[in-house]
Amino acid sequence: MKKKRTTTERYTLADLENWREAARDAQPPIRLGVFGDPVSHSLSPQMQNAALKHCKIDVQYARFHIRANELRSALPVLAGLDFVGVNLTVPHKIAAVNHIDDIDESARRVGAVNTIKIDDGKLRGSNTDGRGFSRAIREEFSVDLRDMRVMVLGAGGAARAVAMQCAKESCERLVIVNRTFEKAKELATELQDFFTGPKVFGPVPRLQAVPWEEASIRFQIGNVDLIVNATPVGLNRADASPIPARLLAPHVMIYDTIYSDKRTPFVAAAIEAGARAANGLSMLLHQGALAFEIWFEREAPLDVMREAL
Ligand code: ATR
Repeated sequence: MKKKRTTTERYTLADLENWREAARDAQPPIRLGVFGDPVSHSLSPQMQNAALKHCKIDVQYARFHIRANELRSALPVLAGLDFVGVNLTVPHKIAAVNHIDDIDESARRVGAVNTIKIDDGKLRGSNTDGRGFSRAIREEFSVDLRDMRVMVLGAGGAARAVAMQCAKESCERLVIVNRTFEKAKELATELQDFFTGPKVFGPVPRLQAVPWEEASIRFQIGNVDLIVNATPVGLNRADASPIPARLLAPHVMIYDTIYSDKRTPFVAAAIEAGARAANGLSMLLHQGALAFEIWFEREAPLDVMREAL
């Protein structure tokens, strides 16, 4: 009897290069997936496969362990196969910009791609992280970014998607905090055109880059409503919270883009400080639903996907 391959299995570049053989027994056929390194922890397969099954779309979504230096080989191979598309995760989101045929506005502005659709052999890149983040905030805290003063921790790919979305939705204030201060300043400079409007808040600027230092962070926390962790700090459960509980206060909402079925260090610190907090599962859900909508041009079954997580 043939072994039925399941999506818990990981494929590699070598498998992609020999795809008809490697995926011969997969049923339903694999036509979607996520490229990453590491990739085994990704929850996208369970979420997307639940959606596919619910919608009676007879394809499956698999994990691909693709290393940083393999992306440029993997993407052209993909274009020649009958894939619907892929998601990209660490470390590929920024690099992919240079290896695809077409990039939409969402991905171009962020400078990173998390969703590729294959259209007539062409790879078209989008980024659903920013809109996914926005929907997650609305779902978790019943507020719109437009009404918030936001502090973003980080200035890498994830932080850029979050900060850009805050800017596009014209949040009241945006503070970018990064370990490498220069990168925070660069990102703020890129976003300054979004913050020239009439909203003014006393002595604090609407858009500000701030060094990752206790005194600066302490001061800013008094002037923000939402703090978003967009660094990898907390990926290891033994990590300290990116901001210690003693600096947090009950008036702030905390969103950790790191997802977990347990409390992340940042969420634990928020709860200790009496603040409302949520982790990145809701952002994972909404970015995935938006990706599904790009691939299939139909509404994603959000409740089914949420249930699968
Ligand atoms: P991602 O795509 O997940 O955003 P990235 O582009 O590598 O990953 O960005 C990682 C971000 O987390 C950066 O802003 C990084 O800060 P630096 O610009 O100083 O490198 C930040 N970061 C990573 N490890 C960190 C740590 N231990 N403490 C604080 N910030 C950290």
